[in-house]
Amino acid sequence: MTQLYFITGNKGKFHEAAEKLRPYGYTVVQNDIGYPEIQAESLTDVVTWAVSDIQKRVNHAFMIEDAGLFIEPLKGFPGVYSKYVFFTIGLSGILRLLRSEENRKAVFRSVYAYSKPGRKTLVVTGECIGTIAKQQRGGHGFGYDPIFIPRNEEKTFGEMSMEEKNQFSHRAKALEKLIAALNKNK
Ligand code: IMP
Repeated sequence: MTQLYFITGNKGKFHEAAEKLRPYGYTVVQNDIGYPEIQAESLTDVVTWAVSDIQKRVNHAFMIEDAGLFIEPLKGFPGVYSKYVFFTIGLSGILRLLRSEENRKAVFRSVYAYSKPGRKTLVVTGECIGTIAKQQRGGHGFGYDPIFIPRNEEKTFGEMSMEEKNQFSHRAKALEKLIAALNKNK
């Protein structure tokens, strides 16, 4: 088993990554040392800046991830502000903003960066297209899971087991690309 250090304070993200990567021979180790998240226009800018900060403090390989929920009728809001919005107006606030909206299209985006001393940083992205539910459903997962329904599904992520969510989540897709890139660069 190869160890992969995942720098995150989010246990949900850590468990999803650990489950997804285990069959590929990777053991994910959570490391919650924290890093600054700049206010930027893209998730890629956020992770790129964070990587350069962490590299000053950590001298081994690590990966980080940043994600956001982009809601079409809200012109991409909350997007890069997803964390802040989750802790302020929350899921009920988002549902209120969409109260009289028929178009409920949304997309979850995930960006992973993998840094290894002496190597170019790998950056991969994943997307999951879906819709915003009319009300919160399900107690699994974290964050916006109870209001997000992936395309062609009935259940919200909050009503799915981690295994089900990992079949189509934005993070799972990004991780698949990361595994492919790591295998290529071995
Ligand atoms: P960050 O990547 O930790 O900055 O996440 C941004 C926000 O999106 C946080 O409020 C997360 O809880 C939320 N979020 C990220 N990924 C997911 C997911 O897979 N499901 C639900 N919410 C998520």
